[in-house]
Amino acid sequence: MKTTAVISYLFTAVTAFAAALSAQPATSSVAPVGATLVLKAGQPGPVINPNIYGQFAEHLGHCIYGGIWVGENSPIPNTRGIRSDVVAALRELHIPNVRWPGGCFADEYHWRDGIGPREQRPRMINTTWGGVVEDNSFGTHEFMDFCEQIGTRPYVCGNVGSGSVREMMEWVEYLTSGADSPLANLRRKNGRDQPWKVSLMAIGNESWGCGGNMRPEYYADVFRRYNTFVKNYPGNDIYRVAGGSSGDDMNWTNVLMAMAGKQMNGLSLHYYTLPTRDWKKKGSATEFDEAAWFATLRHTLRMDELVTQHAAIMDKYDPEKRVGLVVDEWGDWYDVEPGTNPGFLYQQNTLRDAIVAGLNLHIFQKHADRVFGANIAQMVNVLQSMILTDGPKMTVTPTYWVFEMYKVHQGATSLPIELTTPDYVLGEGKIPAVSAAASRDTAGKVHLSLVNTDPNRSIAVTCQLEGVVAKAVTGRVLTATDMNAHNTFDAPNAVQPVPFTGATLANSTLTVALPAKSVVVLEL
Ligand code: AHR
Repeated sequence: MKTTAVISYLFTAVTAFAAALSAQPATSSVAPVGATLVLKAGQPGPVINPNIYGQFAEHLGHCIYGGIWVGENSPIPNTRGIRSDVVAALRELHIPNVRWPGGCFADEYHWRDGIGPREQRPRMINTTWGGVVEDNSFGTHEFMDFCEQIGTRPYVCGNVGSGSVREMMEWVEYLTSGADSPLANLRRKNGRDQPWKVSLMAIGNESWGCGGNMRPEYYADVFRRYNTFVKNYPGNDIYRVAGGSSGDDMNWTNVLMAMAGKQMNGLSLHYYTLPTRDWKKKGSATEFDEAAWFATLRHTLRMDELVTQHAAIMDKYDPEKRVGLVVDEWGDWYDVEPGTNPGFLYQQNTLRDAIVAGLNLHIFQKHADRVFGANIAQMVNVLQSMILTDGPKMTVTPTYWVFEMYKVHQGATSLPIELTTPDYVLGEGKIPAVSAAASRDTAGKVHLSLVNTDPNRSIAVTCQLEGVVAKAVTGRVLTATDMNAHNTFDAPNAVQPVPFTGATLANSTLTVALPAKSVVVLEL
């Protein structure tokens, strides 16, 4: 390019950027900086497994009771006891699977207590989560009904810690057998003629901790034994997920892959983001300063290192990448909201959580060759939830909106990108300011999602488009003036996506004026 052409190009880009910025909410007073991105649409990568957008619903606090299940006689509108407002909101997300009934609860759950007439179901104490009495009114049939109502697949977590091989074996028969057999007939007696499809099953949860405090060598054998009796009945093939490591326990992954890698389809990984990394004082969900914002994002980006390291171990035993990494618990974990039951893990959800969601989903997509699925914890009223409820009131969270905006990536082909980003610097620390992911859907549309972690600076992202002829660009942005902006029952739309006018196309160059602390999804 000649000098005059370069100057003219730069002038056009800067003018477009300035014009675009003025059209968006004023979130920054600091001078903009630039990032560059090359989108290699001509070199498609692996398909993004929709399971990366999985969710998790545990018998914990008000996730199930109050959040999903209100009972048939509730004044809250419901279908067969399942609240209609929550179902309507969740349907919009195209959720691929829901993991249930735990978590730690799964290893004390006995499925036979949750079938048959509700008034006759035995009660139990939920010893892990608040010591409350569980009346088992939400059991197998209710969960399967919920899955059908929101249009998702069940991901059932079986009890290894306090259950038995027989119990798990019979649950699978009850759920999936179409034979004239005792368990299938018991299911029929309880109102369900046709077997359900259960294509995902976890064999225990956190067996190194609440699931039995086992050593990896011992659990590897336990997994092999239980897994032997999880049968595939005609028409139902189960993807078996072995309980994996927590965070950076690489030895667990190593031992499991060495001793049971051949028997499993997937191996799980759990990693939670705590602003302080101190389980005794994690930090508030809403009352935080920029240092806590920065620390949260820095700690969440560790997911990339963890997935890389666990995947490298898996590569040693499984170079063909047959075994999927299933990050079936992830998300932000803060101190509970003041005045709420500490065992219920109820926390608000702000723009910070939306940024965390965007970053993690990009990480999973980047590792689409190994990551089979992921389940954010949790769906309603617990940890980094999609939805908050209070009696009949309901609001969706900023995290919900990221899942709604990103659903275009589900099942699409990932497209490689080369990103050069400035850093977001705070004190001595720095993290990349921009994170991005791209994909092409089956209709040929290219989607580019972008996250700006910097709460102070807008960023001009200049994207070179290779292998795609883009005629138009549209998009949506999720941002707010305050870092801790969140939705409440009185102001449920304080944080929600709006049309994005900050992207311009000129030949094969896309210029994006990425507002400070924002998530943007563009369609080309
Ligand atoms: O999601 C909350 C809890 O975190 C789960 O029950 C457990 O598996 C994990 O430790």
